[in-house]
Amino acid sequence: MNINIFENSDLGSQFVANRIGKVLAARNSVSRPTVLGLATGSTPIEVYSELIKKHRDEGLSFENVVTFNLDEYYPMEPSDIQSYYHFMHQHLFDSVDIQPDNVFIPNGKIHEHKVIKYCEQYDDKIAQVGGIDIQILGIGANGHIGFNEPGSELNSVTRLVELDEQTRKDAAATFNGIENVPTSAITMGINTILKAKEILIMAWGKRKAEIIKQCLFGEVTSTKPATFLQTHPNVSVVLDAEAASLLDLD
Ligand code: GLP
Repeated sequence: MNINIFENSDLGSQFVANRIGKVLAARNSVSRPTVLGLATGSTPIEVYSELIKKHRDEGLSFENVVTFNLDEYYPMEPSDIQSYYHFMHQHLFDSVDIQPDNVFIPNGKIHEHKVIKYCEQYDDKIAQVGGIDIQILGIGANGHIGFNEPGSELNSVTRLVELDEQTRKDAAATFNGIENVPTSAITMGINTILKAKEILIMAWGKRKAEIIKQCLFGEVTSTKPATFLQTHPNVSVVLDAEAASLLDLD
């Protein structure tokens, strides 16, 4: 894994946005679509702001971009302000020229009886468009990526999962209390994520320092799903100084 440490999260976010912008511009110039795997949470917000700036100020077009989001709470109405559907429109999609038909976010209101088939089709759709060119990721306090909680295996695919207690606690403030946090979610699997051609994982702040150390250098294990990233040939880790503070890089 290639580790990039920046003084602060703004510089780290610019690095990630620049990488996405470069790939996008190169593919746009030969009229090829770009497939992006997108994440939610506080971590990528500044990346999305930077991409919006590139669109506005430098004319970077998202017209040929296809996006797949990692996850969505379940059950969840897309119109709900806590939905990842809402998050993505608020932080990126409403401010760029992406075509609504090219946006894929797991549907938090799919009927329980249809969810297995729906998840299979989500993975099929990614394959049909040629796979994800760049996947961006944050990391949960327990080492989850997407909503692949501890116990998620290397071969896991897009599926309905139960959320970990720690994850629900971390989301409690957004939902005005843990009792309002959904107990389930639909997430891309570890296998789905690792099929991306390039992965950029970001972490900011002291609270991520310990889990980053364990996931980058610890044993590869399903108890810390982000450790599976060690098995991927093209991962860039993007950290601010605080998230990198426990790494021994000599
Ligand atoms: C949620 C998301 C993850 C994200 C994680 C970290 O659980 N499903 O994709 O990486 O939160 O959140 P934050 O970026 O706010 O620290």
